[in-house]
Amino acid sequence: MSERKRIHLCLAKMSEEGWEQKYIQEAFDTNWVAPLGANVNGLEADLKQFLGGEREVLCLSSGTAAVHLALILSGVGPGDEVIVQSFTFCASANPVSYLGATPVFVDSEKDTWNMDPDLLEQAIRDRIAKTGRKPKAIVPVTLYGMPYQVDRILEIAKRYDIPLVEDTAESLGSRYRGHNMGTFGRFGVLSFNGNKIITTSGGGALICPDEQTKNEALRYATQAREAMPYYQHETVGYNYRLSNISAGIGRGQMHVLENNIAHHKHVQKLYEELLADVTGVKVHVQPATGEYDSNYWLCTITLDPSLRIVGQEKAYEGIPRVDCEPNANVEALRVYMDAAGIEARPVWKPMHLQPVFASSPAYLNGVSEAVFKMGMCLPAGPYVTDDDVRYIVETIKKAKA
Ligand SMILES: Cc1ncc(COP(=O)(O)O)c(C=O)c1O
Repeated sequence: MSERKRIHLCLAKMSEEGWEQKYIQEAFDTNWVAPLGANVNGLEADLKQFLGGEREVLCLSSGTAAVHLALILSGVGPGDEVIVQSFTFCASANPVSYLGATPVFVDSEKDTWNMDPDLLEQAIRDRIAKTGRKPKAIVPVTLYGMPYQVDRILEIAKRYDIPLVEDTAESLGSRYRGHNMGTFGRFGVLSFNGNKIITTSGGGALICPDEQTKNEALRYATQAREAMPYYQHETVGYNYRLSNISAGIGRGQMHVLENNIAHHKHVQKLYEELLADVTGVKVHVQPATGEYDSNYWLCTITLDPSLRIVGQEKAYEGIPRVDCEPNANVEALRVYMDAAGIEARPVWKPMHLQPVFASSPAYLNGVSEAVFKMGMCLPAGPYVTDDDVRYIVETIKKAKA
């Protein structure tokens, strides 16, 4: 259907100056081909500075590892409960299960699509009433880069004295009241997976409140080896450090981070302008209160259920049907765009609707389920040009039946 180059959701783009290759070459030249070295230290220092200088940063093999270590350091263990935003990627919740604890899911509010503070408080009270114990941590998420309602969530976490683990895997560079997401709670989580705002191919980081906590996380990330001349282990540990080669990519990517953030925001603005008068299609935007500054990692839209898309009757033909799935017009638009060389995908399916978490308690208001049925992510990465955005919008218009 199309001769154009395929437009991906968010492809990593290396710096034009080749910084990534330079740092990798240094690792080879100095023979630091290991999960420690100058690039790991350098990336940690760069991230610390980017985040405002007050928090410590520990580079890890993935964002998932960062969630896992944050939960361990929050004291989560077998039989505990952890409150997790339901509307998220599974990596926010899976580490709760790794620890033999139970995720308790809390739905979203409709403005940011992130954790609903009223439901959060209701969930905390109800869990205390039912189990006699407080949840051990609260995991809000910054979905697609969007800050959650920091003031309210933080106030509730403080009042009940429950540590906040901010899953900011998607929101490096997003801010709330001028402060970086991931620096409000006890811990913050970053991901440098291949499709994030910057990449290390695969990798992540844990944002820690102080040096001592960072060292404790480092101990767990390096098989919990004690400070002895021989191998002494008093707790179970993990092999979670970031490779010095991957960190070299990350250090190079720090040179393009500000540009990438500006580009994502620019692409978002263009979608907002061009889709403004396309009936049935709504672009998800941050609340206009002046507090929110999303990096707009991906542009997200919702399709009105009344919108008809070409081929919609056959949208799910040959695909096993489940209880809750995107509306037929969303799936039809995804297929239409795919044929036009555009990668679009449904928004995350909420965790309370995932069979794997069927037995977890959930505090719901219908918001995440409704957005899941109507929502879609559009390409927004550094390779997406203005011309691509125009083409994507024209394709959406053409897809209307
Ligand atoms: C919300 C969220 N949490 C956690 C992760 C996990 O990060 P990683 O893929 O680096 O393990 C991701 C991304 O992949 C994510 O989108």
